[in-house]
Amino acid sequence: MSRRIMVAGNWKMNGSNESIASLLAGIKAGMDAADKTTVVVCPPMIYIHKVQELTAGTAISVGAQNLSVETSGAFTGEMSSAMLMDNGCTYVIVGHSERRALYHESDMLVAQKYGVARAGGLIPILCIGETLEEREAGITEQVVGRQLDAVIAMEGVKALADGVIAYEPVWAIGTGKTASPQQAQDVHAFIRSRIAEIDAGVAEKVQILYGGSVKGSNAVELFANEDIDGGLIGGASLDAEDFLAICTAAN
Ligand code: PGA
Repeated sequence: MSRRIMVAGNWKMNGSNESIASLLAGIKAGMDAADKTTVVVCPPMIYIHKVQELTAGTAISVGAQNLSVETSGAFTGEMSSAMLMDNGCTYVIVGHSERRALYHESDMLVAQKYGVARAGGLIPILCIGETLEEREAGITEQVVGRQLDAVIAMEGVKALADGVIAYEPVWAIGTGKTASPQQAQDVHAFIRSRIAEIDAGVAEKVQILYGGSVKGSNAVELFANEDIDGGLIGGASLDAEDFLAICTAAN
C-alpha cells in the first residue's frame, strides 16, 4: 500500500492570536518526528492568513473548515474557494457532521462544496459518518454509502481520487468514545469497496482518515489498519504535545 498517511487538525471555533502562535510554535518544534506524514491544520477562517504566515517554509499545510459554493458577490458572511487559495489554503473540510447537523447542510450541498473546492484548486476533505441512532439501527453502511454516493453522483467517481475522505462516526466526535480499531477498519473497508465497485484505481488511491476522539494513546492501533490512512483530529489538535503524539504515531 503506497498511500501517504495524513494527520489533519480541525481546530473548530477555538483559539486566539496568542494561543494559535504558541500552538504552532509547539507543533513546528516537533515536526521532525512527522517527516513521513502529511500534517494539516484547519484554523477558524479569520486566522487562516496568520497561520499561513506562521507555517510558511514548514511542512505544515493549511486547510479551511468550510467554503461557499458561490464564487463571489452578494453572499454576506461567506468565503469562496478563490479567497481560501489566495490566503494559502491547500485543503478544505466539507460536510463535517457539525455543519450537517447544526447548519443543515444536505448531502447535495456537501457534494456541491466538494466540487467547488476541487474546481478552485483545493483538496477537499469529505466528512461522512453515522449517528449513534443510525449505528444502533444497523444502518451505518446505508448512511455512509448515501453520503458518499451524493458526491459520486454529482462529481463522478474520479473526483475522489485526489480528495480525502474522513470517516467520522458522529457518536465518537468530542465524546471521548472512539470507534474500536475494528469498527473503524470495517467501515473504511466498506467505503473503499464501494468505490472499488465503480473504479478500483480510485479506491486504491483515495486517502480515508478516521476521526472521532483520536488521541496519542489510540492512534497507533487505529492507523495500523490497512484501510485507515490517518486521522482528522478535533480536541487533541488544540494541544501541541497531544497533536504531535498523533503525528508521531502516524509516522
Ligand atoms: P474530536 O473531533 O477529535 O474532538 O472527537 C473530531 C472531529 O470533529 O473532526
